[in-house]
Amino acid sequence: MIGLVTGGNRGIGLEIVRQLAQEGHTIILTSRDMQQGDEVAQEMRKAGLDVIAHKLEVTSQDDIGNLQTFVEVKFGRLDMLVNNAGIYPDEGRRFLDIELDLVRYTLEVNTLAPSALTKAFVPMMIAQNFGRIVNVSSGMGQLTYMGGGTGAYKLSKAALNAVTRITAGEVRRYNIKINAMCPGWVRTDMGGRGAPRSVEQGADTAVWLATLPDDGPSGGFFRDRKPLEW
Ligand SMILES: NC(=O)c1ccc[n+]([C@@H]2O[C@H](COP(=O)([O-])OP(=O)(O)OC[C@H]3O[C@@H](n4cnc5c(N)ncnc54)[C@H](OP(=O)(O)O)[C@@H]3O)[C@@H](O)[C@H]2O)c1
Repeated sequence: MIGLVTGGNRGIGLEIVRQLAQEGHTIILTSRDMQQGDEVAQEMRKAGLDVIAHKLEVTSQDDIGNLQTFVEVKFGRLDMLVNNAGIYPDEGRRFLDIELDLVRYTLEVNTLAPSALTKAFVPMMIAQNFGRIVNVSSGMGQLTYMGGGTGAYKLSKAALNAVTRITAGEVRRYNIKINAMCPGWVRTDMGGRGAPRSVEQGADTAVWLATLPDDGPSGGFFRDRKPLEW
């Protein structure tokens, strides 16, 4: 299958690329820094994996358009889209104190960019009646346990969960599964060195959702391959 992972140059995204490619899939590793993306993809090709880098700043509609054209011309299909790229800019800060511009930008990256990518690639998936979309969300977007602090991030992930349910509902007639997942607290630049989980553990559920069988779930929210409360 052909897959695409955003923010594939480091962290959990890089590991999702590796695991999917190790399963024998062709993966488009996107990175906003093309040099970094190329270097990482080259390393993976040396290890025998079928990984191609492509530029994507997720907030750029021009980049999304160029990527869509690239996928159409080169492969004529896309089977898996993993919306992984994300930011965590307001750790521990009070929502009441942060600038709305920061909230706006966080929603742009964490919620609207995955929405734009889904809109861009769902038509191809409908045409082939097959697609798997994974939105890398967070337990911090769970409304059930939500309290104060880190509001820009929490809001953006809760909204991403809503986007997951809405878009999954709109493609229900097709063999397209759209799910959200939480990787847990993972040792990356975002998660920090003290996090309990490895990138391998963090990537696992995303890889599982990207390769679901036809009778797999859609419109759900998962961690460790198990459903999470919204
Ligand atoms: N780590 C955790 O504990 C944890 C927990 C729950 C959820 N998550 C979620 O897991 C996902 C990956 O997190 P991570 O820990 O791997 O984070 P990370 O190490 O900070 O990596 C973030 C990735 O997103 C990319 N990115 C950020 N803004 C972008 C933009 N505007 N355009 C394109 N790419 C952009 C980064 O690219 P650059 O290298 O160019 O900056 C990088 O590749 C995120 O959605 C995060 O919210 C992580």
